[in-house]
Amino acid sequence: MRERMCDRLLVGVAGSVRAVQLPEYLQVLRAEFTEQIKIIATRSASRMIPPRILELYADDRVFVDLWDRSPTVKVPHVNLVEWAEMFLILPATASIIGKAANGIGDDLLSTAVIMARAPVLFAPAMNADMWNSAAVQRNVAQLVRDGNYVVQPSLGLSVTSSQNKVHGVGPGIENLLRQLQHFFLHRLQVAQLSSSSLVAHRALENELSAVSDKG
Ligand SMILES: Cc1cc2nc3c(=O)[nH]c(=O)nc-3n(C[C@H](O)[C@H](O)[C@H](O)COP(=O)(O)O)c2cc1C
Repeated sequence: MRERMCDRLLVGVAGSVRAVQLPEYLQVLRAEFTEQIKIIATRSASRMIPPRILELYADDRVFVDLWDRSPTVKVPHVNLVEWAEMFLILPATASIIGKAANGIGDDLLSTAVIMARAPVLFAPAMNADMWNSAAVQRNVAQLVRDGNYVVQPSLGLSVTSSQNKVHGVGPGIENLLRQLQHFFLHRLQVAQLSSSSLVAHRALENELSAVSDKG
């Protein structure tokens, strides 16, 4: 059997129209990247794609409300974040980017993002004018300053515009997979580095206390 990089991926789905493409993304993520997937969807996302459909691609029910439960998940914003090895927001709207950058937790997804101890990976999808706005760019910069990772989106035609020439940005499946793998390996290296420096630090502490015992 093929080994996946990640065991437990938590996907936070926000209300971009690109949420309708999510089943295809989830299939590729399961085939190429992760063993298990659990999903949080915002209320807007649930209007773009029914949770019943997303559930077909997940290893649990789809969690929308702070009070939703399953047999293994009693308090979703706590238990799901603890369960996850990695937290990916896909697609990330201007709204969830803004809330995350400013520590606003007014629904399940934004509260879970605040709870996350490990960096969160955001895959933005929106109209190009929205993406280039001062507010979104300021919030993206803040997310990166806080240690999160924002997938650089690519330009395509907007799904919702009535004028064909209006553009939208989105992650693109191959781009997303590549950046996800890069992010995962980077995090692994950081974790290994900090555990080896912890070992070195403990060894130094032991040596110092041995010296002071003798003195
Ligand atoms: C048809 C439609 C398509 C939308 N597509 C996007 C989108 O691609 N990106 C985005 O940031 N917002 C989009 N929005 C606006 C968001 O749904 C809206 O800002 C919402 O409050 C986002 O909430 P959430 O981030 O909690 O899901 C769209 C709205 C509609 C009605």
